[in-house]
Amino acid sequence: MPSQPLSLNIVGCGKLGQTLGHLWQKNQVFRIQNICNTHIESARKACVFIGAGRACEQEALQTADVWLIATPDEQIAQACASIAHANRIHSGNVVFHCSGALTSDELVTAQQAGAYTASFHPIMSFAEPEQAAHDFQGTFCGYEGSSSALKVLTLAFTRIGAQCFPVSTEHKVLYHTAAVFASNYLTALLEQSLRTYEKAGIPRNTATEILRPIMTQTLSAALDQGTHQALTGPIQRGDVETVAKQIEACQQWDPSAADLYRILGHLTVSLAKQRQDLDPTLLTEISACLNSKTTG
Ligand SMILES: NC(=O)c1ccc[n+]([C@@H]2O[C@H](COP(=O)([O-])OP(=O)(O)OC[C@H]3O[C@@H](n4cnc5c(N)ncnc54)[C@H](OP(=O)(O)O)[C@@H]3O)[C@@H](O)[C@H]2O)c1
Repeated sequence: MPSQPLSLNIVGCGKLGQTLGHLWQKNQVFRIQNICNTHIESARKACVFIGAGRACEQEALQTADVWLIATPDEQIAQACASIAHANRIHSGNVVFHCSGALTSDELVTAQQAGAYTASFHPIMSFAEPEQAAHDFQGTFCGYEGSSSALKVLTLAFTRIGAQCFPVSTEHKVLYHTAAVFASNYLTALLEQSLRTYEKAGIPRNTATEILRPIMTQTLSAALDQGTHQALTGPIQRGDVETVAKQIEACQQWDPSAADLYRILGHLTVSLAKQRQDLDPTLLTEISACLNSKTTG
């Protein structure tokens, strides 16, 4: 990073933009210049939180060395295009967004203006900027894009405590899907378990307390020991009869619960195979049971 900090414009300065802007200002990483939101009032509030920058309408944006486009994902391409078409983005500028789902290709209009583009995705929840800024240290950030942009941005993110790692542009969607499985679908799985307890006559509040230790212990064990080593339960024990009864009970109650049980059961069989401590014929029987629509 040169001794004179590079100038930064933030277009779309909500939860994430304010958090990063605040941290970069505090650590003197960038010279925060213009903040542009849909509403001028929210841009002004963002400047107050960041402690720097000038709120402005899109037409009043000055040129800048670095541009963060942190609008909601569905607005990124259009926001970038309108700035690029207004000749605000110049050759050699760095333009990036922080979406986990989208690649730097979303910024094609900036590339056409000669800018270097990247995506830089912090894997954390920015629910409330003050808390997020406090918690940011150590956050993992997946990046992809042009090497010239990444040179500037990895330094800027590292200086506010991020742990940066590369993601291939080709696999960005799968990279984001992995977090959906681990985070969003873990919540969905908790919900499925609560509904199953409720169907078994156990109130939701009690079920939540029952699940608290078992879920946290299971997660810790799987993260510490590895997924196949931490595996327990009827599939890991080769208990074909219990698996068949559980599929049948789900099928009677809610066929979609039975479908979920089957899909996750196949993944569990593949984990049990890795342990190599079970008779493979039992696992073959369990697979057949999971495939069968009528378990009897
Ligand atoms: N929040 C998270 O936990 C999180 C985590 C990782 C990555 N991200 C990524 O960070 C980016 C921003 O997310 P966020 O949660 O910070 O969104 P947000 O809190 O909803 O803020 C979006 C901001 O963009 C402004 N905006 C919307 N359309 C605009 C446009 N066309 N031109 C200029 N400004 C516009 C809004 O202005 P007004 O305030 O005036 O309405 C608002 O300030 C997204 O790409 C998201 O995927 C978010």
